[in-house]
Amino acid sequence: MRRVLTGIQSSGKPHLGNLLGAILPAIELADSQTEPAYLFIADLHALTTLRDPAQLKANTYAVAATWLAMGLDPHRHVFFRQSDVPEVCELAWYLSCLTPYPMLANAHSFKEKSHNLAEVSAGLFTYPVLMAADILIYRANLIPVGKDQKQHLEITRDIASAFNRTYGELFELPEPIFREEVMILPGIDGRKMSKSYGNTLDPLGDPQELYKRIKRIVTDSKPVEAPKDPDSCTIFKLYAVVAPPPAVEDMRQRYLSGGYGYGAAKEALFEAIEAKFASRRESYQRWMADPEALEAILQAGAEKARTEAQKTLSEVRSAVGVRPPLLRLRKRTPKSLSQRLK
Ligand code: TYM
Repeated sequence: MRRVLTGIQSSGKPHLGNLLGAILPAIELADSQTEPAYLFIADLHALTTLRDPAQLKANTYAVAATWLAMGLDPHRHVFFRQSDVPEVCELAWYLSCLTPYPMLANAHSFKEKSHNLAEVSAGLFTYPVLMAADILIYRANLIPVGKDQKQHLEITRDIASAFNRTYGELFELPEPIFREEVMILPGIDGRKMSKSYGNTLDPLGDPQELYKRIKRIVTDSKPVEAPKDPDSCTIFKLYAVVAPPPAVEDMRQRYLSGGYGYGAAKEALFEAIEAKFASRRESYQRWMADPEALEAILQAGAEKARTEAQKTLSEVRSAVGVRPPLLRLRKRTPKSLSQRLK
């Protein structure tokens, strides 16, 4: 069985890197399989950086509307909100008891954010364990993600192997699926495009704002006449993933031969993003205007996801030696209890 799964944090509205690095490839891969995919909004992960409940809720709807505007079919796939399946937190606990401390302490994403340890929460530290639980609880094996998630997937595989060694083979090791041409998309300052760097482009937002941000993309100061290196230029790197291949080749030649300025390249980039995303933007706005419809879709997805999660969790409980939870607390009088204890 080939089961696709991926998640997007609701720490903000998805940016171009999320759309091209994860959402579009995930939908394409999901639609190519017969088995429904598990696609979700990682709102519990977003709590590692976000402490505003209204913002978390608004972001969750923004991420849901984005998935749907990008073409996700919620009837064919299981589309849900991470926190609607609380079983994942219980699995994360069992997995965390098998996860060596140094493995988490050496994770790049943790090291990057942990310069000031006093400000680091335990949630940020154990972030990869919850991610492993997300994947393993649904028995997913194909995980389309951006290259920045590579180490998190390796950690998931290590944790699954540790579980299998300790308690017997229960989990298949999941495989990351990267889209080579997107890898890690740069933001307007040339660093990885990321909400936490404030360097994102939002193709589903206001086009004027998008235009202004594209105009702010940092370049070197070569004059219009000079030949330029396309492969080290952020404008070209972004254009290469949104424009059709012949247009990309044309821009490459213009860079190499000179007489083509960064201003013109920025205009071309804006047009290419508009051509690819303008109709999606309208669909995004329609979904955002109907939070009840979004909620209904997410809850229907959560019901399906929960059934699957409960099956895995009951196998895990029995493997580790924890009994199933008492669903109904029976009322006992102290007398009948003392009789039973005799
Ligand atoms: P998040 O929300 O940070 O990113 C969501 C997806 O977008 C990809 N991505 C990028 N791709 C290319 N260029 C970029 N600049 C860029 N920035 C982000 C990420 O690689 C990711 O695929 N931990 C995950 C969320 C998650 C998850 C999971 C993913 C939680 N549980 C289980 C897969 C499976 C994350 O940080 O997403």
